[in-house]
Amino acid sequence: MQSGHLPVMTAEVVEYLVVRTDGIYIDCTTGSGGHSHRILLNAPSGRLLGIDVDPAAIKRARETLSEFGERYELTMANFSELAATARDHGIDQCDGILFDLGFSSLQLDDPSRGLSFQEEGPIDMRLDPTSGPTAHDVISRSEERELAGIIRDFGEEKRAHPIARSIIAARERGQLDTTRDLAKAVLATKPQHRQKTLARVFQALRIAVNDELSSLRSGLEQAVALLRPGGRVVVIAYHSLEDRIVKQFFVRSERPCVCPKELPKCACGREPTLRIVTRRIVTPTDAEIARNPRARSAKLRTAERLAEGEKP
Ligand SMILES: C[S@@+](CC[C@H](N)C(=O)[O-])C[C@H]1O[C@@H](n2cnc3c(N)ncnc32)[C@H](O)[C@@H]1O
Repeated sequence: MQSGHLPVMTAEVVEYLVVRTDGIYIDCTTGSGGHSHRILLNAPSGRLLGIDVDPAAIKRARETLSEFGERYELTMANFSELAATARDHGIDQCDGILFDLGFSSLQLDDPSRGLSFQEEGPIDMRLDPTSGPTAHDVISRSEERELAGIIRDFGEEKRAHPIARSIIAARERGQLDTTRDLAKAVLATKPQHRQKTLARVFQALRIAVNDELSSLRSGLEQAVALLRPGGRVVVIAYHSLEDRIVKQFFVRSERPCVCPKELPKCACGREPTLRIVTRRIVTPTDAEIARNPRARSAKLRTAERLAEGEKP
């Protein structure tokens, strides 16, 4: 298997996701194919569709999975189009769907992607480098208020306004070409925690550029519709904004009733679609974090598709 990106919590992914050895699985974020590889190993008569928005990832996954012959297909797509992508590959129901969110170490470490504040590169940040506006485009067309909103909402950064002002001032001076320039503009506001602030601002811009939170909401909805009863959805999130969306989505799907508490009986008729499997959040072991420090923020949640009329 290829190295470069160490897949996170692989044993846990297999434990929660692989409900049948002959199942059909969709890896919505196949990356270098690490998780896909483990799924296929543990489902020896199963099949897998691997999706990624990054064409370079698909190329790497093809090498990682080559030993599995006809048992897998790979396609470049955004998981916000999960239903249509699955249909195009002849899948109308499946047994397990994995989302390992965000970006891979290979994407982070490639300066040309502009994802790291530690590398000098273009202010790009697109996970699909073939389409859509870059982070530089977003900054170029934003007013201070708008940019501050992005930094506050997607970076959970309290000092969003002074940071946005400093970035826009650098832009106006014509000094905002590279990720180093961006980091310099952020640090000019003299944040107390330099690394944390840089991480939050880069996260915010990346989420905005890739419309990550809307894609996640939409991908989860489509995943539930694709799962057959007993099938599982497993999500690994790396920051609280994503994890909150997953948690709330699972809770709403398990308890969709919107009737006032005083009503003796449900009148809204909304049926549960999922049963939460991981009542307690699953995190990497200390040994895994020691081996792979980038795993430290990972949080895994799993839910199981209910049959019609079934109660959680
Ligand atoms: C953490 S990495 C996954 C690593 C993978 N599990 C492995 O074992 O190599 C996340 C991957 O998801 C992809 N990705 C992020 N958002 C996506 C989206 N909305 N649709 C499809 N792929 C996406 C990224 O391009 C990246 O390759």
